[in-house]
Amino acid sequence: MQAAYSLRRRLLAWLLIATAVIGCIALIDTYREAVRTANTVSDRVLAGSALAIAERVVVAEDGSLQVDIPYVALEMLTSAAQDRVFYRVDGPPGQFITGYQNLPSLTDTDGQTAAYADAEFRGEPIRIAALQRSASTGIKSVPFVVTVAETTIARRQLTQAILLRSALRLVTMILGAAAIVWVAVTFSLRPLYRLSDAIAERNPGDLHPIRQSVPREVEGLVETVNSFMVRLQSALDALRHFSGNASHQLRTPLAIIRTQLTLSARATTLEEAQHAARKGDEAVAHAERILAQLLLMAKIDAAGSQKPEPPDIIDLVRLARQMTGERVPGAGDAGMDLGFEGEGEALIRAAPLLIEELLRNLIENAIAYAGRGAEVTVRVKTAGAKVLLDVEDNGPGIPLAERQVARQRFARGGRGEAPGMGLGLPIVEEIAGLFGGHLTLGDGPDGKGLKASISFPAAGST
Ligand SMILES: Nc1ncnc2c1ncn2[C@@H]1O[C@H](COP(=O)(O)OP(=O)(O)OP(=O)(O)O)[C@@H](O)[C@H]1O
Ligand SMILES: [Mg+2]
Repeated sequence: MQAAYSLRRRLLAWLLIATAVIGCIALIDTYREAVRTANTVSDRVLAGSALAIAERVVVAEDGSLQVDIPYVALEMLTSAAQDRVFYRVDGPPGQFITGYQNLPSLTDTDGQTAAYADAEFRGEPIRIAALQRSASTGIKSVPFVVTVAETTIARRQLTQAILLRSALRLVTMILGAAAIVWVAVTFSLRPLYRLSDAIAERNPGDLHPIRQSVPREVEGLVETVNSFMVRLQSALDALRHFSGNASHQLRTPLAIIRTQLTLSARATTLEEAQHAARKGDEAVAHAERILAQLLLMAKIDAAGSQKPEPPDIIDLVRLARQMTGERVPGAGDAGMDLGFEGEGEALIRAAPLLIEELLRNLIENAIAYAGRGAEVTVRVKTAGAKVLLDVEDNGPGIPLAERQVARQRFARGGRGEAPGMGLGLPIVEEIAGLFGGHLTLGDGPDGKGLKASISFPAAGST
């Protein structure tokens, strides 16, 4: 299981990352806008000063240009902040008239409007406005350029103020959104807490569907849990049924053993006591067999519910031949002719021990129910991608109508003379199922008796 994470933290993280990214973009945009605004406002003032100076430029009698700097116009600028103001006035190209000679100027000014530029002067960033005009004597006009510059402290302060306020607004918004998410998640998760309380309060045996109202997003989960509980209920029912049946089955031989023990205790002759002991021993064997079948059933159930380890490849011909061979003498004693048919190899993927149990159950059924004089044949053959196993006899068989029932757990035919508890065929069916096989019950040779067939996928075919 992965380490648990907090939904709330995740949502918050997403929200914060997303708003931080969007916020940064917005801040960059705001910064640009602020710079532009601050420049526009201050540039206008700068141009006004340049214009005021330009109006004071006159042509002297000797034809040279003269300026009477209106310091008030420049004061308009300096009052703004600690900014320093510089100016220069130039006559026709190459002719410096007054002001700061080192102040950079602009050459490509057009006639009417001022031109602006950023530059550096005395180690400080400055903003320059240059205005081109001409002074006229009436006879000739003399062009000149007025350059006014100021340091950019006021502009920077304005930009920073705008930026700071937007940043503050943004942070407030993000924090507000985070708080909203926190509260909203708390409220939205409430139905889930109620759901978990409702489940926790149940008593362990209560597997009724959950009827709690939950958000639509969680409905699927609740439905899954409900259907799981239905399956759990039926598994539990099956288990109860199974253990009830199993203990019931065990009681019969135990009762017989007790009776026989009592009888032997009361026996007056040795023969009587020996007879009771023999009967008791048979009952113990019966109980043993029941326990073996029950254990096997439990083993198969466990194998079915665990992830199976990859089964071995086994040769069914060899295994079935060997198992049949071992039982030939016993079948002979019971007056039956047990035989094997099959050649070569027939490989299947399966656990050998379980396949042995499958074979044992089928062969024992045939020996137990086919009756004296019957012929029993175990046959293995390969048909395409299938390996077929048949166990057939020419005894009384199972009537068609009862075949389906005979495959259920604890179902026994009317011929209950042989000791058993009705687990054989279900065991066969389930073992076959574990390895991709399928059990069919048909008629034996010449329509007599029973033929139990299982088709397994051949190993190698997938
Ligand atoms: N070859 C057969 N011929 C006739 N009847 C059969 C044959 N095999 C099974 N049956 C009938 O099917 C019933 C169910 O068989 P199954 O093997 O499941 O249980 P069982 O033999 O009664 O008990 P268990 O195998 O657990 O000892 C049997 O009781 C028997 O009536
Ligand atoms: Mg059986």
